[in-house]
Amino acid sequence: MIGVFDSGFGGLDVLRHLRAALPARDFVYLGDSGRAPYGGRDAHTILDFAEQAVERLFEEGCRTIVVACNTVSCVALRHLQQRYCGPGSDRRILGVTIPGAELATQQSAGHIGIIATRRTVESGTYVAEIAKLGSHKVTQLATPLLTPIVEEGWESSDLALLAVDRYLEQLPGIDTLLLGCTHYPLLLPAIQVRLPRGVTVVDPAPYAAGRLVQWLERHPGFDAPVLAGRGSLRVLCTGDPDHFARHGTRFLGFPMPQVEHVAEVDGRLAHRDPADAPRGQVVR
Ligand code: DGL
Repeated sequence: MIGVFDSGFGGLDVLRHLRAALPARDFVYLGDSGRAPYGGRDAHTILDFAEQAVERLFEEGCRTIVVACNTVSCVALRHLQQRYCGPGSDRRILGVTIPGAELATQQSAGHIGIIATRRTVESGTYVAEIAKLGSHKVTQLATPLLTPIVEEGWESSDLALLAVDRYLEQLPGIDTLLLGCTHYPLLLPAIQVRLPRGVTVVDPAPYAAGRLVQWLERHPGFDAPVLAGRGSLRVLCTGDPDHFARHGTRFLGFPMPQVEHVAEVDGRLAHRDPADAPRGQVVR
């Protein structure tokens, strides 16, 4: 069973590529939509939320977890790997940052622009990973307005074009643009309209999925289903499950299965039935 974790909806795009590449595998997706966005949060909070999410996915029976969220991959991946995947461990946690850096350096002739959340930019992780692979110039830009625009479903609006414009004009001279946030592939049409000719856009999602497939092929015994997988999918979220199901379809590309609700109880993500929530009437 493969777990996929994101701060919210955006990782469903990574999941879409993973399911296309591994149709017989069973997946559990966890979107922390009730606490998203992560991009403006401090690193300690992100570590804490990320630990709760991977522990929930391990409890669901996952041994391989893909951290689809760029912010978590940049801030917390090493910590998660050290904490849960030490020597002799039968668990594996992978992120999207190294695949993103690999793809960007393969595409770029010399100057890579990165758009991402504030925390991703401040972490410097993409810059460090790209520096390991070549001597490219890298210009990063925090683009915090883009995630809420996508969350609202306004990626085709004038507002999206205006925001993309304002941000891209701050990245002169780039030859490659790395989409360093799970939400930005949905803005591709707006980005492509506004991007100068000749600039290549890099979306790490399909490449990261391909890297996981390669890794599983190199480690055939690892996380192989005892019985052949059925290509099943379970989806958990911490926010409103109906809202998640409605909006998630845009990222997933096909209708979502029923979304299960989990919420933090004493530092762990536990199953919760939203119907049990107190209604808040005042007793007179
Ligand atoms: N999933 C986050 C990322 O890729 C985007 C949204 C957020 O700020 O939580 O960085």
